[in-house]
Formats: sequence, structure tokens, C-alpha cells
Amino acid sequence: MEPIQIGSLTCKPLHPTFVAEISGVDFSQVPLPQNVIDDLVAAQNRFAVTVYRDTGLDDARHVKFSQQLNECELCPKFGGPAQPDRFSDPHLFDAGNMNLDGTLIQKDTRRWWYNKGNALWHTDSSFNQHRSKYSLLLAHLVPQEGGDTQFADVRTAYDDLPQEKKDEIEDLVIEHDLWWSRQIAAPEEFKSVTQHEKNAKQPAYHKLVQVGPDGRKTMFIAAHAKRVMGWSQEKSTKLITELIEHCTQPKYTCSVKWYHPGQLVWWDNRISMHRATPFSDQMEKRDMRRTTVFDDGPEAYGVPDAPQMELGGSLPPA
Ligand SMILES: [Fe+2]
Repeated sequence: MEPIQIGSLTCKPLHPTFVAEISGVDFSQVPLPQNVIDDLVAAQNRFAVTVYRDTGLDDARHVKFSQQLNECELCPKFGGPAQPDRFSDPHLFDAGNMNLDGTLIQKDTRRWWYNKGNALWHTDSSFNQHRSKYSLLLAHLVPQEGGDTQFADVRTAYDDLPQEKKDEIEDLVIEHDLWWSRQIAAPEEFKSVTQHEKNAKQPAYHKLVQVGPDGRKTMFIAAHAKRVMGWSQEKSTKLITELIEHCTQPKYTCSVKWYHPGQLVWWDNRISMHRATPFSDQMEKRDMRRTTVFDDGPEAYGVPDAPQMELGGSLPPA
């Protein structure tokens, strides 16, 4: 596939419909000039997932660059381990497999099984009423083998749905619940989660069919998607499973390899899904740090009063 030029950026597609490796950005100059940010966002809107080698970014510039894209989430505390963070900046989410002292997270600990949910196809933070638009994952230490991140092109998958399916799902609202994906990923271990913990993280509500930042229609779905408002759990699970399976067929997916520290992968949670793949997590260290950028688009805050639909209500006017 031939490289494409967007402003000062050279974009080398890694898949026929999405994902590109970008060159031409000098991350030592963060904060970047606005024209470069504009080019990067244009590339992001086009490819949904962009990959950058050898950024040279450190924690401070990783956060600063992310904040040029919008305000960033503070690292969530719910459901995670009751231990101090490894990082000084509260905007950095720990996506690695190391404890505070640098040892490997042991199998069967809370943090170990909690991370199993990342192996399901998901979108980051869809369980928040104020959802995220971007995740920016920076490698600090990568395993020798495995640990690729796989992505799915939800826009193209939506385009390819039969019209009758598009009509069926057009106005649906989905409940997204962090605990739902954790229960699916680790049903036995999930039994240790207390009601107090569950109460601390309530579900969020978002429209299923949305218009993405490039004007194309897409779906906001994946592992945290628990049910369709107004539908039974059984009927909801059937549709959600069907749509995730449709979107994650091999023709819509692309696996991104992690080569070395300093590599950055930036994805748009509104128009793609992703999942982690296995590596020898009890043998090798993986240090990955993520910033998560709040959405500021028209669907950023979802449908907060959707629970009323359970009482026979309908979607509030747009
Ligand atoms: Fe994720």
C-alpha cells in the first residue's frame, strides 16, 4: 500500500481500510505546533489507529502531548488493586504487568485477573458517562514475543451491515458496565468483587449507532456493552454478540506489533475496538503507559437519562 501525505505527515497504511504508521513528527518539540496537531487529528480521523516509532517521549511529554488533544482522564481507581501507583503523574494508566517494586504481577491476584478483561474486544472507558475519544499507549518495556494489540475497523464493519440490520439498530441505546466485561473475562474470580465496589462504578448509557469524527457512521459497542435499553438480557446479549463478532472478522482487523520502547499507538475509541493478545506475562516484564483523552464531540456525554427507557420512555430529542 502506497504512503499517503497528510500535511507534513507521511502515513503508511498497515491495512486496506484503517491503521497507518506515521512519520514526520518531532516529539522532542512537545507541545507541538497547532498545524501539526491539526494534521495528526486529520490522520487519526482517517485511519482510526496511528502508530509512531521511536517517539522518544517520556512521561511528562506523553501527558503534555495528550493534553493538547483535550483534557485527559485521571487514572481510574475502581476495581483495581489497593496499592500505590507506579507513576507520579495521575493521568498515566498502568497497562503493564509489574508491581510497584518492579516484580511481575502474580497469577491469580486481583490485578492479574482484572487485566484478563483486556483480552476481550473493547473500547476504553465506554463504561463512563463522559466517555473517552482517544487512548495513547506508550511502550517503555516490551516482551520479546507476543503482546500485540489487535484493532477492529468498526466503521467499515458498519458500512457492510445489511440495510435491515442498520434499520433495526439505528435508535438503540446500550448500557455499558465495567463489571459486565470483568464477569465475562473471569467469572470465578469476579465473585470476590464486593457490592461496595460494584456500587462505586455505575454503568453508563450511549447510543449504539453514531456518526464518527469523519462524518461516517459507526457503532459504539464492545465488551462493556451489557444490554440494550428496553430489551431483555437474552435478546440484548444475542445482538451485542452478533455485532461484535461481525466487527471482528479477520477482514476488519489489524494486529499492531510492539517493537521497542518509545513506540506510541494512538487509537480512537469511538470508531474502533481493540484487544490485548497473550505474551509470557509470568516470565517477561511489559511496561506500557496509557493516557486517555476525554471526548469533546456531540456524543461525549452519552444518554444519561436512558434508564428511564426501562419505564417505557423513549430516546430524548437530539
Ligand atoms: Fe484497552
